[in-house]
Amino acid sequence: MAVREEVYGYFIPSVTLIGIGAAKEIPGKIKALGGSKPLVVTDKGITGAGITKQITDLLEAAGMPCVVYDETIPNPTDKNVHDGVDIYKAEGCDSLITLGGGSSHDCGKGIGLVVANGGKIHDFEGVDQSTKPMPPYVAVNTTAGTASEMTRFCIITDTSRKVKMAIVDWRVTPGVALDDPLLMMGMPPALTAATGMDALTHAVEAYVSTIATPMTDSAAEKAIELIATHLRPAVANGQDIVAREGMCYAQYLAGMAFNNASLGHVHAMAHQLGGFYDLPHGECNAILLPHVERFNLIAKMDRFAKIAQLMGENTEGLSTRDAAELALTAIQNLSKDIGIPAGLIELGKRYGKEVKAEDIDTMTANAQKDACGLTNPRTPKDMDVAAIYKAAL
Ligand SMILES: [Fe+2]
Repeated sequence: MAVREEVYGYFIPSVTLIGIGAAKEIPGKIKALGGSKPLVVTDKGITGAGITKQITDLLEAAGMPCVVYDETIPNPTDKNVHDGVDIYKAEGCDSLITLGGGSSHDCGKGIGLVVANGGKIHDFEGVDQSTKPMPPYVAVNTTAGTASEMTRFCIITDTSRKVKMAIVDWRVTPGVALDDPLLMMGMPPALTAATGMDALTHAVEAYVSTIATPMTDSAAEKAIELIATHLRPAVANGQDIVAREGMCYAQYLAGMAFNNASLGHVHAMAHQLGGFYDLPHGECNAILLPHVERFNLIAKMDRFAKIAQLMGENTEGLSTRDAAELALTAIQNLSKDIGIPAGLIELGKRYGKEVKAEDIDTMTANAQKDACGLTNPRTPKDMDVAAIYKAAL
């Protein structure tokens, strides 16, 4: 590794609990952090699936009162955050539990920021704008995953400006992150596939990021290997506890990598598809991933060759270039095997949206402004981004 004249931080929850039955630890951990009446932030889907009740039953059994806010919507809004803050204050809560995939954690992180620091959620847009610590906070993951249960990122939609505010603040990192595969068993195959490919994208983008370090590399490498091993079986059979647990570790490791090495143009471009057509994040990433990495290939040829090996491809006797190409093949094969649509038009049709070539220029302009692109290993011109969107149609 070459010496670089920069200092790299490493952000991670103080405590992480991973494994079958880890959820039982929630009341004890809230108590250990000094909480006695948590606000449980979640969404109607989680409540409908019976998971919220599992958690409130655990709290009740431990003699701990709680209040549930389950109005969080996908792409949570400033209104969600402020409603949650009002309930937190009115009910006299003193701690937070967030329960879900990405949205509940983002919403709960926002609630914690405002409760602790005052003001509005909009005040915290940008990097490290808070000055006071969050309330005691346990984040419980139900997908595998966004890794939002362990990151310092909080994305909240500003409803008046109609933009997603990126809040990057080390204080929103949960005190305790919890991944219990038993909470993930009910995830349907399509969601398992989409969230798993999101995790693969996190690992790959962090691995080829311009600010990768040995610490993020080790996490990314293991994440890629685990996803290649466990994602297919987890999609094939949601009750496969070994695969579910493997994906818990994989997505967490991918989170360790991207929470500290950031991402790249897959996310920069996928965000625009999310904003423009409201298409799901994981599948947008999955479709864009091989196309963006084909463009990136010349920047980090040796790293792509390593990704091929980690994904189980036989690279023996191959040139670095040929081995690197195999990484793209491995990613495409995995996507295909788990039912990810071949292109963006097909993806749009699945969700009743028409993805149109004439929107590419606008999405390209916005993708070029997305902060995720800053650490992409190759700097694309507008025409390159447009060509990638086109190839992914
Ligand atoms: Fe992501």
